[in-house]
Amino acid sequence: ALVLAAAALGGYLLGSIPFGLVLARLAGYGDIRKIGSGNIGATNVLRTGNKPLALATLLLDSGKGGIATLLALWLGGQESALLAAGGSMLGHAFPVWLGFKGGKGVATALGVLLAISWPVGLFACGMWLLTAVVFRISSLSALVALALSPLFGWWWSGPAVAGLAAFIAVLVFVRHKDNITRLLAGTEPRIGGKKAEAA
Ligand code: G3P
Repeated sequence: ALVLAAAALGGYLLGSIPFGLVLARLAGYGDIRKIGSGNIGATNVLRTGNKPLALATLLLDSGKGGIATLLALWLGGQESALLAAGGSMLGHAFPVWLGFKGGKGVATALGVLLAISWPVGLFACGMWLLTAVVFRISSLSALVALALSPLFGWWWSGPAVAGLAAFIAVLVFVRHKDNITRLLAGTEPRIGGKKAEAA
């Protein structure tokens, strides 16, 4: 039980590192929460116009979820890995350091899924890319990819991975509430569209 609690807490702490916020500040853009959608993720970092910085945010936010999951897998096995994965998602979305107001969890979800079952992670990345190529909307791509991941996860690896993917999907949908409102209103900005105004 101690191992499981440590995995969940360790995952939460790793997940709660807001790389987008830190990188944007270090690069001189100030508080990323005052730009574009106000989110701390790679999509919003891209709205500064700095593509390498957005890529670094994507890789680090994915990496923290992946590393938390793999570390827990090696130290405690599958059950620990699932808890660390869920913990890192909660850490990213609700970081104690930012008054529990964190990100939307897409990059972290991709890292977590790649770590827990790489085919499921690849499937999610593929669905994200496919939707992004067709519609050029980051949030829509995330919603499509993560809505389908539990189904693919069930088919490919069974209930444990499907359960984690379903938990992730629910969390990501909840965190995209404003995006969903904009998508339905037809006002969600496209990737590479005009620079966003201040939030
Ligand atoms: O990665 C989050 C993405 O799905 C939406 O980001 O900044 O457009 O709300 P944003």
